[in-house]
Amino acid sequence: MSKKVKDFESFGQFNVVVFGGDGDLAFRKIYPALFHRMLDGQIEESFNLVAVIRKEPNIELLRQKVRQFLYSADGKPASDKQWEGFNKAISWIQAESAEVVHYAKLFSFLSQFPDYRTIFYFSTPSSAFGAISKALKACGLINEQSKVVLEKPLGNNLASSNQINTEIRQAFAEHQVYRIDHYLGKETVQNLMVLRFANNLFQRTWDSASIDNIQITVSESLGVEQRAVYYDQSGALLDMVQNHLLQLLCLVAMEPPHVLAADEVRNEKLKVLKALRPMTGDSVLTDTVKGQYTRGNVQGVQVNSYLEDIGKYQSKTETFVAIRAYIDNFRWKNVPFYLRTGKRMKKRYSEIVINFKEMEHNIFPAKEKLNNNKLIIRLQPEERIELIQMTKIPGPGGYRYKPIALSLDYMDSFKERLPEAYERLLIDVIRGNQTLFMRHDELQAAWQWIETLTESWKQSQQANILYEAGTWGPGDTILNPGTSWITKSWRD
Ligand code: BG6
Repeated sequence: MSKKVKDFESFGQFNVVVFGGDGDLAFRKIYPALFHRMLDGQIEESFNLVAVIRKEPNIELLRQKVRQFLYSADGKPASDKQWEGFNKAISWIQAESAEVVHYAKLFSFLSQFPDYRTIFYFSTPSSAFGAISKALKACGLINEQSKVVLEKPLGNNLASSNQINTEIRQAFAEHQVYRIDHYLGKETVQNLMVLRFANNLFQRTWDSASIDNIQITVSESLGVEQRAVYYDQSGALLDMVQNHLLQLLCLVAMEPPHVLAADEVRNEKLKVLKALRPMTGDSVLTDTVKGQYTRGNVQGVQVNSYLEDIGKYQSKTETFVAIRAYIDNFRWKNVPFYLRTGKRMKKRYSEIVINFKEMEHNIFPAKEKLNNNKLIIRLQPEERIELIQMTKIPGPGGYRYKPIALSLDYMDSFKERLPEAYERLLIDVIRGNQTLFMRHDELQAAWQWIETLTESWKQSQQANILYEAGTWGPGDTILNPGTSWITKSWRD
């Protein structure tokens, strides 16, 4: 089990302490991520995984539940041997609340490993982050080697996010804080950096002179699942745009950092966020659309409306949002960035489409339309890059052409299992690389822009447009005047 399959660097000994250790995220993402890194030989069995939970632990049940989410690289359930190795690393510790008296068990457990570095993973609502940090500090559990991972959402507006940050910073320094956005751990998202900054081909075409518009879409077929309470307070804008979509936008739009170093990359992302054109009471009406799903049929299954899903008679929360955003700088002057995301859409897919400008002059006699080039970066469910280019149709009798994709499929090209986002991100925390984590000023800038939008929504009293589950959202139904852009290249 602990055999080193690849030649990985050694991380030394460490603890990962997960607060909210019996939460959905821990079972679905954090434990499987650590398990896979262990299977791959990247982390040793000698690390400690400490799951902190509020209730009296029923260890047998918890173990069964952890195992249920563990699969080996070939997709089969974890074998007994694989499971035993992982199970040995886990300890379940109860702490009823974030107070020093309740951290005694945690304290005595961690005291047995004075030389281990400790990563504290806060997988609880962010309202608890301040209290947990305070109690850890009071127990003397934080030192220069400690790190803290913060799950989103960090607050629900600029003020609450700043407040949480202030509380965290009383216990941890900024270089110890890892604000996670799992989209940045996706292989295809990281490949954006390589695509843009390792290929000369795109260097001189990545700007308003060559690009007509950029579309970033995260479409989900799922509804709100078991997260009604959280989701109804957030909505699509805060749940997806404030973090994932804005981060994707930053990677697509930022200037090249002069070296690949955490702060250099984050400085460039920050500049993009600061250059986002603020929304106003007028511009939200033409540049945003929000919607909420009603009953419908998603891939052959009849599903409830949002209101039925959350068990309420009414709610103003949006489950779909589309935004036309602009970045006011030299590179992107007047290039629209379309950001779209929604729940209960026709199907699940995420992609970034770079739409190049049309050819200015057509030399071909037939004058058939020359479609513009597109670079399509498919993030999920498949990981693929396509460059759509005009190609001659073979045969005599003059030039005829049509758009054809030059395609690179990640799975075909690399023929190995792609690590899940959380695997990469957790390893980066362990090795102390903050490049893929948001710095506080980035988060602030994202909130500042989002607030121009939420405030303008309030001011203009913009209402949700209802859309049927299983469709492409409000674009399929009635739109506000001036928002027909929403259907632009919306893919089938
Ligand atoms: C989470 C959101 O951050 O991302 C969820 O809270 C959403 O609502 C999820 O479903 C989407 O992630 P992925 O990786 O499945 O696209």
